[in-house]
Amino acid sequence: MNVLGIETSCDETAAAVVTGDRRILSNIVLSQVEEHRPYAGVVPEIAARSHLDHTDRLIGEAMAAAGIGWDGLDGVAATAGPGLIGGVLVGLTTAKAIAMVRGLPLLAVNHLEGHALTARLSDGLDFPYLLLLISGGHCQLLAVEGVGRYSRYGGTVDDAAGEAFDKTAALLNLGYPGGPAVEEAAQRGDAGRFALPRPMAGRPGCDFSFSGLKTAVRHTVAALPGGEANDRDSADIAAGFQQAVADVLADRARHAIHRFLSKFPSESHEGRHFVVAGGVAANRQIREVLSRATEDEGMRFTAPPLDLCTDNAAMIAWAGLERLRLGMTDDLTFAARPRWPLDESANPSGRVALGQAR
Ligand code: KG4
Ligand code: ZN
Repeated sequence: MNVLGIETSCDETAAAVVTGDRRILSNIVLSQVEEHRPYAGVVPEIAARSHLDHTDRLIGEAMAAAGIGWDGLDGVAATAGPGLIGGVLVGLTTAKAIAMVRGLPLLAVNHLEGHALTARLSDGLDFPYLLLLISGGHCQLLAVEGVGRYSRYGGTVDDAAGEAFDKTAALLNLGYPGGPAVEEAAQRGDAGRFALPRPMAGRPGCDFSFSGLKTAVRHTVAALPGGEANDRDSADIAAGFQQAVADVLADRARHAIHRFLSKFPSESHEGRHFVVAGGVAANRQIREVLSRATEDEGMRFTAPPLDLCTDNAAMIAWAGLERLRLGMTDDLTFAARPRWPLDESANPSGRVALGQAR
């Protein structure tokens, strides 16, 4: 079984072909980071136009690289939400056109489901497992129990973790995107120089909050001589900030692990995986702190390769493939959704509702 996947929900235009036996035949990602850099953030109109300019060509390239021909496809999957609606429309409409012309089933995929199921593509994991999704737009802990069966244990009440990195980088004049810049500066810094808060740490539950941490960074910068951070200050604040984020993520992860293991008790925790995904999972210190916390609590730490952790179309093709195998195909009238929570509490009828246009 082979599925073409299309991803256009944020600032990456991507197309990929994957197979039912977990091979990635092609996986092409075009980043728009240079187009958004002057604005230090993603501009929805620019993103949508850029997707429009590049989606067809990228699909052509992904199909050519896969080498199976259009007749070799069994389905076409596209992100149908959540995301920037202009971009989502470009990818979803293109997928519908291909499905119609080629007589293929359409799979309207939830972008978060793409992230959630990636570890089954990369590492062949069995259900259930625990997922921490930490990206620029999302920050949540989910139990992944089956295709279309997700329990959200907690999420951010304000900013996503990646957003906090980007805003901190802006306050420290480190450039855009902020995550890699903060990580680089932090390597030269002293995390102990400034006392920054650990929002939510020690509280019950699995929710996150990062806006107070960002505000603390702003106050710390304002209190410096001249109200500006020099290189030394920036490095020290970056290091303190990164350590605080890592500590908070580990604290919340421990709570989620306790909840997960009490719901899915197992004699051996060897087979119980804690998976991280999203751009922030690229951060080495965060990976280390999380991996230590996870293994302390008796779960195995799994991080898919970086190019599958950040936004890509292989994860969309794979989620489509998993749904296609279960007969969960979608109608060509499926409407793009700017918001689309993944968990059952927000979507009580579970897998059936996931595939229906509302
Ligand atoms: O998953 P992703 O590529 O796109 C979405 O947001 O969906 O994640 C991008 C986010 C940005 O906020 C970026 O600053 C952050 O991930 N990021 C990092 C690192 N690399 C990227 N944050 C911390 N450390 C990094 N090394
Ligand atoms: Zn994403």
